[in-house]
Amino acid sequence: MRAALQLSALALLPAVLGAALPSTTSGPQFDNGHPIDGNGKGAPLLGGTNRQIDIDNSDNLGKQSTDNGIVPNLKWRFSDSKTRIFRGGWLREQVIQDLPQSHDISAAQQHLSKGAIRELHWHRVAEWGFVYAGSVLISAVDENGKYQVEKLNFGDIWYFPKGVAHTVQGLEDENEFLLVFDDPDFDKVGTTFNVDDWVAHTSRDVVAKNFGLDPSVFDHVPNPNPNIFNGTVSTKNVTGNPDDVLTGNASFVYRTFQHEPEPVPGKGGEFYKIDSTNFPASKTLAATYVKLKPGGLRELHWHPNAEEWLYFHQGTARATVFIGNAAARTFDFSAGDTAAFPDNSG
Ligand SMILES: *[C@@H]1O[C@H](CO)[C@@H](O)[C@H](O)[C@H]1NC(C)=O
Ligand SMILES: *[C@@H]1O[C@H](CO)[C@@H](O)[C@H](O)[C@H]1NC(C)=O
Ligand SMILES: *[C@@H]1O[C@H](CO)[C@@H](O)[C@H](O)[C@H]1NC(C)=O
Repeated sequence: MRAALQLSALALLPAVLGAALPSTTSGPQFDNGHPIDGNGKGAPLLGGTNRQIDIDNSDNLGKQSTDNGIVPNLKWRFSDSKTRIFRGGWLREQVIQDLPQSHDISAAQQHLSKGAIRELHWHRVAEWGFVYAGSVLISAVDENGKYQVEKLNFGDIWYFPKGVAHTVQGLEDENEFLLVFDDPDFDKVGTTFNVDDWVAHTSRDVVAKNFGLDPSVFDHVPNPNPNIFNGTVSTKNVTGNPDDVLTGNASFVYRTFQHEPEPVPGKGGEFYKIDSTNFPASKTLAATYVKLKPGGLRELHWHPNAEEWLYFHQGTARATVFIGNAAARTFDFSAGDTAAFPDNSG
């Protein structure tokens, strides 16, 4: 069977080549998926390839004559991640095993249908979230019993410091958000602590005694933990001591559009900066939400103290990364792509 498949593939090859062989002298062929600059460099791509990906990423074919040297891959598309599906939602991640050049950050897209809950858990690392569809109810409690329960809409951001236990619940029919963690190796053992796991792996009598409840109360603790599970939106509000509510500078929530945007130099767009100056709780992550018009340019810059991690939500973009010496590489981005630009790269 295998041999037969190979034979038929080989038999097809001459016909395919005969149909579409571009000439090296008939102008640039990057946009047809061939590494030919029309100026004497390059030749047709005859081997196995995904032509559509080549066309969408023509800078990988050598289109930019200013690109030079060896720059490692700095891009990962969520479409190449494994999606884990649950009752009421899904999750797909980008961790360091996917994008080895992202040394500080890992990320995920997560979806919750109405009522579905990302169950109670905490992390050894900080979690930053951005709601881009629908609205969610977040709840969080810190080690001193200070807490916060809030409804978040498009553009709203949360930041849960390491160790702060939290849940997220979908409120609209369909809700989705970006998650960012300040550790690249997010799936490492000892990173996420689900309360269900803890209870399931502690003697039932101990758990019952701990809470002063009958052991039968814990008969139906899900095992393994469900991660996301379906539920219903409560009609009751959380009640607690109002003095313990996290507000003001202690708040774990910042609403991006509560301040005016700054113009991108050259008037090509606008950006919102969300960092320790306006969101003091977010101690380990600073962010910008950037919108560029067609042709708009985020001007030449670098960051003296940090790698830059990116997520593209809509449209297409191109970025050139200069990593020192004479090495530079241009990347094409489209919605769903993530990227990491090295510390101090231009
Ligand atoms: C969750 O899904 C299960 C299986 O479809 C269903 O039996 C259960 O009633 C659902 N629970 C809620 C709260 O929607
Ligand atoms: C819950 O809190 C919201 C906002 O403070 C308030 O508008 C609503 O009436 C409360 N609902 C109940 C059932 O107390
Ligand atoms: C809140 O934080 C900002 C920025 O760090 C600071 O300028 C401001 O004084 C703080 N406000 C209070 C009430 O502590």
